[in-house]
Amino acid sequence: MAKTVSAAFGRLSDGRTVTKYTMENRGGMRVSLLDYGAHVQSILLPHSGGPLEVTVGFDDADGFENRSNYQGAIAGPYANRIGGGRFEIDGVEYRLDQNEKGVTTLHGCGEYTHTLWETAVADDGAVTFRYVRPDGLHGYPGAIDARVTYALGDDGRLSIRYDCVSDRKTYINPTNHTYFNLGGFDSGDILSHTLQLNASRFTPVDEYSIPTGGTLPVAGTPLDFTAPHAIGERIDADFGQLRLTGGYDHNFCIDGADGTLREAASAECAATGLRMNVYTTLPGVQFYAGNFLKGGLGREGKPMNRRCGFCLETQYYPDTPNRPEFPSCLFDAGEHCVSETVYEFVRI
Ligand code: GLA
Repeated sequence: MAKTVSAAFGRLSDGRTVTKYTMENRGGMRVSLLDYGAHVQSILLPHSGGPLEVTVGFDDADGFENRSNYQGAIAGPYANRIGGGRFEIDGVEYRLDQNEKGVTTLHGCGEYTHTLWETAVADDGAVTFRYVRPDGLHGYPGAIDARVTYALGDDGRLSIRYDCVSDRKTYINPTNHTYFNLGGFDSGDILSHTLQLNASRFTPVDEYSIPTGGTLPVAGTPLDFTAPHAIGERIDADFGQLRLTGGYDHNFCIDGADGTLREAASAECAATGLRMNVYTTLPGVQFYAGNFLKGGLGREGKPMNRRCGFCLETQYYPDTPNRPEFPSCLFDAGEHCVSETVYEFVRI
C-alpha cells in the first residue's frame, strides 16, 4: 500500500507535459514513474546517509526523450530483438522497421518507450499506464491494448504487472529496462556486485545478438551464475559468447519457469548492504551489464559510463517469432498476455 502523488516532470520537445507519479511506502521507499514511456524514473531507498538512488537514468524529460538507452523504460510491443526484422504468422510475412544496424528490430523500435501513456491511480496507490497502439506501426501487426501496473508494497517489493490484448493474432513481449546500481547511481561501475541467476541454460547468439537456436548449458562457462559470482569476475573472459556481445548481454532461461511467480535472480552490493531479488512469471531474463553505455549525461548531469548499471529484463526469449522451439508468446485475437515481475529490495 503506497501513498501516490503526481507532479509535472517536464516537457517533451513538442510541448506536451510529462507527469511524474511518486509512490511512497511506509518504510520511506519512493518509486517515481513517468507517463512518458511508462518509465521507472527513480527508486530511492532509505539509507544511513540519506535516501539512496539505485537507478541509473535521467532527471529531465529531454534525457528520456533524446539521450535514452532505454533507462527505466517499458520496451514493447516486442522487447529485445527480432532477427532480420521479420517473422510470419499463419503463412503471412511481416517486415518490421530494422532500427539496429539496419538488420534487426530492437525493443519495438522504441515505440512504447517514446509514447505518452494514459494514467490511472488506484485507491491503493498502484499506478496503471495504458497505451493502445495502431495496427501496423513499424510493420508490426496488431492494435495492442497494453496496460502496465506498478505497485509498491510496504515490504519493499515493486511489482510490475503487464496485461496486453490485441485485436488480431500477434506476438507480445513487453519488459522493463531499468538499469540498477545498488551502490548508488553515481558510485561507479557495477562489477563488484554479486549476481545469482536461477538459470542453468541460456540462448546463445550470433554477432547481431540474435539467438542461433536452442539453448546451451551455462555450466563450465563464464555465464554460470547458478552460484553467486561478482559480475566483473569473468565479464571480459576470452569466451566466444562474451566477445560477441562485449560483456554480459544474454537471455537466461529461468529454471522451472511455469507461469507462476518464481525467483529468477538476485544481486547484492556489499558496500551498501543492499540486495535486490527479482521474481517473475516469465520464462527468460536478459542480463545486460550496460556494456554499451558511453558516458552520456544522466541524473545531475553526471556521465553514465560503461557498465555503471545493469539490467535484468524479464521476458520471453529474444526472436521467439522465428524460433518455434522457444516458449511461445503468440497470442490470439482477444487473448490476454498477462505477466508479473517483482523487484524486491532488502537489506542484508
Ligand atoms: C538490451 C539489449 C542490449 C542493448 C540495450 C539497450 O538490453 O540486450 O544489447 O541494446 O538493450 O542499449
